[in-house]
Amino acid sequence: MPAINLAATLDMAIETARRAGALLRVGLSQQRQIDLKSAYELVTDMDRASEDLIVDAIHTYCPGHAILAEERGGAVGVDRPTWLIDPLDGTNNYAHGFPYFAVSLGLWEENQPLLGVVYDPVRDELFSAQAGGGAQCNGMPLHVSQVATLAGALISTGFPYDYGTRADNNLAEFNKVQARCQGVRRAGAAALDIAYIAMGRLDAHWEIGLKPWDTGAATLMVREAGGQLSDAHGEGWGLSSARMVASNGLIHDELLALLNAAQ
Ligand code: IPD
Ligand code: CA
Ligand code: CA
Repeated sequence: MPAINLAATLDMAIETARRAGALLRVGLSQQRQIDLKSAYELVTDMDRASEDLIVDAIHTYCPGHAILAEERGGAVGVDRPTWLIDPLDGTNNYAHGFPYFAVSLGLWEENQPLLGVVYDPVRDELFSAQAGGGAQCNGMPLHVSQVATLAGALISTGFPYDYGTRADNNLAEFNKVQARCQGVRRAGAAALDIAYIAMGRLDAHWEIGLKPWDTGAATLMVREAGGQLSDAHGEGWGLSSARMVASNGLIHDELLALLNAAQ
Protein backbone atom coordinates (compact mmCIF):
# COMPACT_ATOMS: atom_id res chain seq x y z
CA MET A 1 0.00 0.00 0.00
CA PRO A 2 1.51 3.42 -0.99
CA ALA A 3 2.36 5.89 1.81
CA ILE A 4 -0.59 8.05 2.87
CA ASN A 5 -0.53 11.78 2.13
CA LEU A 6 -1.75 12.72 5.61
CA ALA A 7 -2.35 16.41 4.92
CA ALA A 8 -4.51 15.68 1.87
CA THR A 9 -6.33 12.87 3.67
CA LEU A 10 -7.07 15.15 6.63
CA ASP A 11 -8.50 17.76 4.23
CA MET A 12 -10.73 15.08 2.74
CA ALA A 13 -11.87 13.93 6.20
CA ILE A 14 -12.65 17.52 7.23
CA GLU A 15 -14.64 18.16 4.09
CA THR A 16 -16.51 14.87 4.51
CA ALA A 17 -17.31 15.51 8.19
CA ARG A 18 -18.61 18.97 7.28
CA ARG A 19 -20.87 17.52 4.57
CA ALA A 20 -22.18 14.79 6.90
CA GLY A 21 -22.70 17.39 9.64
CA ALA A 22 -24.66 19.63 7.28
CA LEU A 23 -26.93 16.69 6.52
CA LEU A 24 -27.50 16.14 10.25
CA ARG A 25 -28.15 19.84 10.85
CA VAL A 26 -30.85 19.91 8.17
CA GLY A 27 -32.35 16.66 9.46
CA LEU A 28 -32.64 18.07 12.96
CA SER A 29 -35.48 20.36 11.96
CA GLN A 30 -37.30 17.68 9.96
CA GLN A 31 -39.37 14.66 10.87
CA ARG A 32 -36.95 11.90 11.86
CA GLN A 33 -37.46 8.17 11.59
CA ILE A 34 -36.41 6.64 14.89
CA ASP A 35 -35.95 2.89 15.36
CA LEU A 36 -34.71 0.69 18.20
CA LYS A 37 -31.35 -0.93 17.39
CA SER A 38 -31.38 -3.04 20.55
CA ALA A 39 -33.46 -3.09 23.72
CA TYR A 40 -32.10 0.31 24.77
CA GLU A 41 -30.38 1.83 21.76
CA LEU A 42 -31.91 4.19 19.21
CA VAL A 43 -30.91 4.67 15.60
CA THR A 44 -32.33 7.27 13.20
CA ASP A 45 -32.54 7.47 9.43
CA MET A 46 -29.93 10.24 9.67
CA ASP A 47 -27.34 7.97 11.35
CA ARG A 48 -27.57 5.81 8.23
CA ALA A 49 -27.63 8.70 5.74
CA SER A 50 -24.58 10.30 7.36
CA GLU A 51 -22.72 6.99 7.36
CA ASP A 52 -23.56 6.35 3.67
CA LEU A 53 -22.15 9.77 2.74
CA ILE A 54 -18.93 9.18 4.71
CA VAL A 55 -18.37 5.65 3.43
CA ASP A 56 -18.93 6.76 -0.18
CA ALA A 57 -16.27 9.47 0.26
CA ILE A 58 -13.77 7.04 1.75
CA HIS A 59 -14.40 4.48 -0.98
CA THR A 60 -13.74 7.21 -3.55
CA TYR A 61 -10.66 8.85 -2.01
CA CYS A 62 -9.09 5.97 -0.04
CA PRO A 63 -10.19 2.82 -1.89
CA GLY A 64 -7.67 0.52 -0.22
CA HIS A 65 -8.51 1.48 3.36
CA ALA A 66 -10.51 -0.68 5.79
CA ILE A 67 -13.68 0.67 7.41
CA LEU A 68 -15.19 0.03 10.84
CA ALA A 69 -18.38 2.05 11.05
CA GLU A 70 -21.00 1.97 13.78
CA GLU A 71 -24.06 1.16 11.67
CA ARG A 72 -22.62 -1.23 9.07
CA GLY A 73 -19.81 -2.79 11.11
CA GLY A 74 -16.60 -3.88 9.42
CA ALA A 75 -13.21 -4.70 10.88
CA VAL A 76 -9.86 -3.17 11.64
CA GLY A 77 -7.51 -3.82 8.68
CA VAL A 78 -4.57 -6.10 9.40
CA ASP A 79 -2.14 -4.63 6.89
CA ARG A 80 -3.84 -1.40 5.86
CA PRO A 81 -5.16 1.77 7.49
CA THR A 82 -8.63 1.71 9.05
CA TRP A 83 -11.29 4.41 9.28
CA LEU A 84 -13.27 4.39 12.53
CA ILE A 85 -16.57 6.09 11.77
CA ASP A 86 -19.29 7.34 14.07
CA PRO A 87 -21.70 9.02 11.66
CA LEU A 88 -23.71 10.52 14.52
CA ASP A 89 -22.30 10.48 18.03
CA GLY A 90 -25.13 11.46 20.36
CA THR A 91 -27.99 9.66 18.60
CA ASN A 92 -30.23 9.82 21.65
CA ASN A 93 -29.75 13.59 21.86
CA TYR A 94 -30.39 13.93 18.14
CA ALA A 95 -33.57 11.86 18.27
CA HIS A 96 -34.93 14.22 20.92
CA GLY A 97 -33.73 17.40 19.21
CA PHE A 98 -31.17 18.07 21.98
CA PRO A 99 -28.40 19.94 20.11
CA TYR A 100 -25.28 18.12 21.33
CA PHE A 101 -23.99 15.62 18.80
CA ALA A 102 -21.13 15.21 16.33
CA VAL A 103 -19.64 13.33 13.40
CA SER A 104 -16.43 11.48 14.29
CA LEU A 105 -13.82 10.12 11.83
CA GLY A 106 -10.55 8.57 12.95
CA LEU A 107 -7.83 7.00 10.80
CA TRP A 108 -5.63 4.37 12.48
CA GLU A 109 -2.81 2.12 11.31
CA GLU A 110 -1.03 -0.62 13.27
CA ASN A 111 -2.93 0.28 16.44
CA GLN A 112 -1.87 3.92 16.28
CA PRO A 113 -3.97 6.97 15.43
CA LEU A 114 -2.95 8.97 12.36
CA LEU A 115 -5.79 11.48 11.99
CA GLY A 116 -8.95 12.53 13.80
CA VAL A 117 -11.87 14.80 12.97
CA VAL A 118 -14.87 15.59 15.19
CA TYR A 119 -17.46 18.01 13.81
CA ASP A 120 -20.25 19.67 15.78
CA PRO A 121 -22.60 21.02 13.11
CA VAL A 122 -24.76 22.97 15.58
CA ARG A 123 -21.90 25.20 16.75
CA ASP A 124 -19.97 24.80 13.49
CA GLU A 125 -16.91 23.63 15.46
CA LEU A 126 -14.51 21.38 13.58
CA PHE A 127 -11.93 19.66 15.78
CA SER A 128 -9.03 18.02 13.98
CA ALA A 129 -5.70 16.41 14.80
CA GLN A 130 -2.81 14.77 13.00
CA ALA A 131 -0.33 12.57 14.87
CA GLY A 132 2.64 14.77 15.72
CA GLY A 133 0.95 17.80 14.16
CA GLY A 134 -1.10 19.16 17.05
CA ALA A 135 -4.85 19.59 17.42
CA GLN A 136 -7.03 22.45 16.21
CA CYS A 137 -10.58 23.75 16.40
CA ASN A 138 -11.58 25.66 13.25
CA GLY A 139 -7.85 26.00 12.57
CA MET A 140 -6.92 27.42 16.01
CA PRO A 141 -4.39 25.38 18.05
CA LEU A 142 -5.80 23.53 21.05
CA HIS A 143 -4.30 23.09 24.52
CA VAL A 144 -5.65 21.24 27.53
CA SER A 145 -6.52 23.21 30.67
CA GLN A 146 -4.14 24.05 33.50
CA VAL A 147 -6.58 22.96 36.23
CA ALA A 148 -4.38 21.10 38.71
CA THR A 149 -6.82 19.61 41.22
CA LEU A 150 -10.03 17.64 41.01
CA ALA A 151 -11.59 20.24 43.31
CA GLY A 152 -11.20 22.80 40.55
CA ALA A 153 -12.24 20.57 37.68
CA LEU A 154 -15.26 20.22 35.39
CA ILE A 155 -15.49 16.61 34.27
CA SER A 156 -17.73 14.53 32.00
CA THR A 157 -18.78 10.92 31.81
CA GLY A 158 -21.34 8.68 30.15
CA PHE A 159 -23.28 5.53 30.97
CA PRO A 160 -23.57 2.31 28.99
CA TYR A 161 -26.96 1.90 27.29
CA ASP A 162 -27.70 -1.19 29.42
CA TYR A 163 -26.83 0.49 32.73
CA GLY A 164 -30.20 -0.45 34.22
CA THR A 165 -29.35 -4.14 34.10
CA ARG A 166 -25.66 -4.29 34.98
CA ALA A 167 -23.84 -3.97 38.30
CA ASP A 168 -20.82 -2.07 36.99
CA ASN A 169 -22.98 0.72 35.63
CA ASN A 170 -20.75 3.70 36.60
CA LEU A 171 -23.23 5.12 39.14
CA ALA A 172 -20.91 4.53 42.13
CA GLU A 173 -18.08 6.29 40.30
CA PHE A 174 -20.39 9.14 39.28
CA ASN A 175 -21.44 9.70 42.92
CA LYS A 176 -17.86 9.76 44.16
CA VAL A 177 -16.46 12.10 41.51
CA GLN A 178 -19.47 14.44 41.57
CA ALA A 179 -18.88 15.07 45.27
CA ARG A 180 -15.23 15.99 44.75
CA CYS A 181 -15.15 18.31 41.72
CA GLN A 182 -17.01 21.33 40.37
CA GLY A 183 -19.44 19.17 38.41
CA VAL A 184 -19.82 16.05 36.31
CA ARG A 185 -21.56 16.58 32.97
CA ARG A 186 -23.34 13.74 31.21
CA ALA A 187 -24.10 15.39 27.91
CA GLY A 188 -24.49 12.26 25.74
CA ALA A 189 -21.87 12.53 22.98
CA ALA A 190 -18.55 11.03 24.08
CA ALA A 191 -16.57 12.13 21.02
CA LEU A 192 -17.50 15.76 21.67
CA ASP A 193 -16.89 15.46 25.43
CA ILE A 194 -13.39 14.13 24.77
CA ALA A 195 -12.66 16.79 22.14
CA TYR A 196 -13.68 19.40 24.75
CA ILE A 197 -10.77 18.25 26.95
CA ALA A 198 -8.37 19.12 24.14
CA MET A 199 -9.90 22.59 24.13
CA GLY A 200 -9.83 23.05 27.92
CA ARG A 201 -13.61 23.31 28.23
CA LEU A 202 -13.55 20.08 30.24
CA ASP A 203 -10.68 18.81 32.40
CA ALA A 204 -11.36 15.06 32.14
CA HIS A 205 -13.74 12.38 30.85
CA TRP A 206 -14.09 8.78 31.94
CA GLU A 207 -16.38 6.07 30.64
CA ILE A 208 -16.75 2.30 30.38
CA GLY A 209 -17.73 0.40 27.27
CA LEU A 210 -16.87 3.00 24.65
CA LYS A 211 -16.44 1.67 21.13
CA PRO A 212 -13.59 2.36 18.68
CA TRP A 213 -15.82 4.69 16.65
CA ASP A 214 -16.58 6.78 19.78
CA THR A 215 -12.93 7.29 20.72
CA GLY A 216 -10.94 6.83 17.49
CA ALA A 217 -10.75 10.55 16.63
CA ALA A 218 -11.09 12.61 19.82
CA THR A 219 -8.44 10.73 21.81
CA LEU A 220 -5.79 11.85 19.32
CA MET A 221 -6.89 15.44 19.96
CA VAL A 222 -6.36 15.03 23.70
CA ARG A 223 -2.91 13.58 23.13
CA GLU A 224 -1.92 16.28 20.63
CA ALA A 225 -3.23 19.05 22.90
CA GLY A 226 -0.97 17.89 25.75
CA GLY A 227 -3.41 15.69 27.69
CA GLN A 228 -3.22 12.12 28.99
CA LEU A 229 -5.08 8.90 28.24
CA SER A 230 -5.13 5.67 30.19
CA ASP A 231 -7.15 2.58 30.97
CA ALA A 232 -8.63 1.90 34.40
CA HIS A 233 -5.25 0.92 35.82
CA GLY A 234 -3.30 3.89 34.58
CA GLU A 235 -1.80 1.79 31.78
CA GLY A 236 -1.79 2.89 28.16
CA TRP A 237 -5.26 3.26 26.70
CA GLY A 238 -6.11 1.38 23.49
CA LEU A 239 -9.18 0.95 21.32
CA SER A 240 -10.12 -2.24 23.17
CA SER A 241 -9.61 -0.93 26.73
CA ALA A 242 -12.73 -1.50 28.83
CA ARG A 243 -12.51 1.88 30.55
CA MET A 244 -11.08 5.08 29.18
CA VAL A 245 -9.82 7.95 31.30
CA ALA A 246 -8.81 11.11 29.42
CA SER A 247 -7.63 14.28 31.13
CA ASN A 248 -5.45 17.35 31.03
CA GLY A 249 -2.76 15.19 32.68
CA LEU A 250 -2.59 17.25 35.86
CA ILE A 251 -5.64 15.65 37.52
CA HIS A 252 -5.21 12.20 35.96
CA ASP A 253 -3.85 10.29 38.95
CA GLU A 254 -6.29 11.89 41.39
CA LEU A 255 -9.24 10.96 39.19
CA LEU A 256 -7.98 7.41 38.61
CA ALA A 257 -7.54 6.83 42.34
CA LEU A 258 -11.07 8.04 43.05
CA LEU A 259 -12.59 5.91 40.28
CA ASN A 260 -10.79 2.82 41.52
CA ALA A 261 -11.83 3.53 45.13
CA ALA A 262 -15.48 3.56 44.00
CA GLN A 263 -15.41 -0.01 42.71
C1 IPD B 1 -22.99 7.13 22.58
C2 IPD B 1 -22.58 8.49 23.10
C3 IPD B 1 -22.74 8.56 24.59
C4 IPD B 1 -21.95 7.47 25.29
C5 IPD B 1 -22.34 6.10 24.75
C6 IPD B 1 -22.15 6.07 23.24
P1 IPD B 1 -24.00 7.02 20.12
O1 IPD B 1 -22.78 7.05 21.18
O2 IPD B 1 -21.25 8.78 22.78
O3 IPD B 1 -22.27 9.79 25.10
O4 IPD B 1 -22.20 7.54 26.67
O5 IPD B 1 -21.50 5.13 25.34
O6 IPD B 1 -22.53 4.81 22.75
O7 IPD B 1 -24.72 5.72 20.32
O8 IPD B 1 -24.85 8.19 20.36
O9 IPD B 1 -23.26 7.06 18.81
CA1 CA C 1 -21.02 7.08 19.55
CA1 CA D 1 -23.44 6.82 16.67
